[in-house]
Amino acid sequence: MASLKSSPAWKALEAHRKKTAGLHMRDLFADEKDRFDAMSVGLGGLFLDYSKNSVSAETFALLIDLADEADVEGWRRRMAAGEEINATEGRPALHMALRDPGAGKEIIAARKDMERICNGIRDGKMTGATGKPFQAVVNLGTGGSHLGPAMVVGALKAFRDGPDIHFVCNVDGAQIAQILDGLVPETTLFITASKSFTTEETLTNARTARSWLSEAVGDGVGDGAGAHFIAVTANAGAAKDFGIGEDRIIALPEGVGGRFSVWSGVGLAAALALGWENFEAMLSGAHDMDRHFLESPLDANMPVILGVIGIWNIDFLGAEALAVLPYDEGLGLLPNYLRQLEMESNGKSIGRDGTALEAGGAPIVFGEPGTGGQHAFYQALHQGRRLIASDFIVPLRTHHPTGDHHQRLLANAFAQSEALMMGRPGDKNGDKQPPHRAFEGNRPSNTILMDRVDPFTLGQLIALYEHKVFVQAIIWGINPFDQWGVELGKELAAAILPEVLGRAASGDHDSSTRGLIARARNAQEGKQS
Ligand code: F6P
Repeated sequence: MASLKSSPAWKALEAHRKKTAGLHMRDLFADEKDRFDAMSVGLGGLFLDYSKNSVSAETFALLIDLADEADVEGWRRRMAAGEEINATEGRPALHMALRDPGAGKEIIAARKDMERICNGIRDGKMTGATGKPFQAVVNLGTGGSHLGPAMVVGALKAFRDGPDIHFVCNVDGAQIAQILDGLVPETTLFITASKSFTTEETLTNARTARSWLSEAVGDGVGDGAGAHFIAVTANAGAAKDFGIGEDRIIALPEGVGGRFSVWSGVGLAAALALGWENFEAMLSGAHDMDRHFLESPLDANMPVILGVIGIWNIDFLGAEALAVLPYDEGLGLLPNYLRQLEMESNGKSIGRDGTALEAGGAPIVFGEPGTGGQHAFYQALHQGRRLIASDFIVPLRTHHPTGDHHQRLLANAFAQSEALMMGRPGDKNGDKQPPHRAFEGNRPSNTILMDRVDPFTLGQLIALYEHKVFVQAIIWGINPFDQWGVELGKELAAAILPEVLGRAASGDHDSSTRGLIARARNAQEGKQS
């Protein structure tokens, strides 16, 4: 790839940054009376206000030039056409097809399987080995095979009318033990969600679940523990070997990355909780955002706008972190979900062309629902030495009206973004403020309003971030669809396990790793370290 930093659009942005270095957003708002209208865009139940960024009309135009120069339009077309844009794995990126009503045969067939299984379980027609309907569902999966369904089930609590849903993602036995403790084997269903069906954590949990079931219902495929499992995977052979019947396997295309897979069978736990119609409404919301992303001009395109503003904040203003701040308790897992989406997709330092990136890479993503975070880490957002950009996600209507709680919640969200932007100068109304009470302001934030958190709007929101991440990747020169950075740890854990178990002598490790393994062995053998 040609050098990003010597491209005309990047250089123009650099020169512009120098020229506007002393600019304060307060002045932009004072000068531009229609700034809110000019710097906001709506789509269905979503509304993005990006006016509280250090971006003038000129900055914005230059950022759109950058997207144009990177050929975002060509790349979005190539992705939609199913080209192999994930070159290191030789795969397309098919998440848009998963929510397309006109998708290809295989994707529609998998969606039909998912619908059949979802309805069968919810209706009580698809039962466990002893013929009893399932009352509890445990999703066994990690990363994208956990965070997507867990986030959606939490976000759409108000729409739930299905069985109890539990999630086990950690190989720490405490998690599965605690969950199994309250469940009855005969009426419990396990979804083994694993694209690869080789992920050690998930398979370890699945084996534990199977032996828990086997004690109660036996070991068979259709008439024993196997009847209590659904697999969602691209590796049907391994699922069958595990003892899961063919009619209980939902295919996951190879061309769908874990963090983009909530729209597939990986979303089954959510579909079971919400019902098929609600799950389909979520797909429709995402499809609506896809159409917008594919068809809108770059300067009126929500994901493009969010993407280029993020690049401005990261590369030109130095914001290394992005706080995701949902003002909705149900969206509690959204920061974690978006952390994987952003950091696993763009947390890279080598570009698509195999050379070191010159700029960009994912920000550090963190956050928690308001207002708890305000009393924990917002101090650093307002007065810290590091610049942190923020995304406020604010549903205008609540499913839980309780007195004036929601109005208070809204007031807090709007107050925070105003404070971050305006700050409070050291000298206010002629009163001297001590330095520690001064707020410089000028801290960037976006506010995404949701009409309310419902399946359609949530689908739009997730797809918005998927495409934002894609736009940034294209501009930075990243392949956002691979994740080679997780491989080394997996390999080393496999090598260290026999040593921790005491089945192999200490391998060739550095002295720290050797020392830690030795202490673990001693602890297991009850010896003093
Ligand atoms: O290790 C990272 C990762 O591969 C993620 O990308 C993925 O979401 C997760 O592990 C789970 O993978 P699988 O669905 O294959 O079990």
